[in-house]
Amino acid sequence: MQFTYYGHACFMVETAGKKLLFDPFVNGNPLMTGFDINTIQADYILVSHAHGDHTGDLMAIAKNTGAKVIAMAEIADWVTNQGYSNVHAMNYGPAQLDFGKVRMVPALHSSSFPDGSNGGNPAGFVVTTGDGSFYYSGDTCLTMDMKLIPEYAGLYVAIMPIGGNYTMDVEDALIASNYIQCDKVVGVHFNTWPPIAIDEEKSVRIFEAAGKELILPELGKTIKL
Ligand code: NI
Ligand code: MN
Repeated sequence: MQFTYYGHACFMVETAGKKLLFDPFVNGNPLMTGFDINTIQADYILVSHAHGDHTGDLMAIAKNTGAKVIAMAEIADWVTNQGYSNVHAMNYGPAQLDFGKVRMVPALHSSSFPDGSNGGNPAGFVVTTGDGSFYYSGDTCLTMDMKLIPEYAGLYVAIMPIGGNYTMDVEDALIASNYIQCDKVVGVHFNTWPPIAIDEEKSVRIFEAAGKELILPELGKTIKL
């Protein structure tokens, strides 16, 4: 599995020969000024919820790449209404795609579009391919539903927000890693704006002290997970 970080909660996972882009938002990220979204390629775009910091570049990148958008039914409808029909609408539960299984799981958050449209309920994803399983929680607080995830899949890695204020902070994410039974976490949704600023060294140490790994990806960089 390869992981490329486009800042905030926008990242690409390359697995089973496919490029899965999550929560496209680059333009408008003050840490990503000057980055050209036309360089982003994708086979699929998975959208956790409708907030602007997760969908700001959704239509531009979808139209650019022709990628199939996988999202909650209300978000898929909104995308269709923008004149883009390559969508896979779903809701909480499992779906079979050509690269593997995508399970949409609950996130405890909100989900309206910046234009006021209803985005349905917010979600996370458990993705299982021949390369293994990973979990992206989306924006969420710590929630007991996370305890169900080991019933679905043994996770190789989890991608979770750690910035606090709107989502889990690093202490919450550590508890979440216990709930989901995963010792390798990639932290996202931090440092983009002052309310979600973190102490990176301290955050990494909190995971280390628990015998776990917190990876804080560098902007624009690709790492092997
Ligand atoms: Ni949000
Ligand atoms: Mn967000």
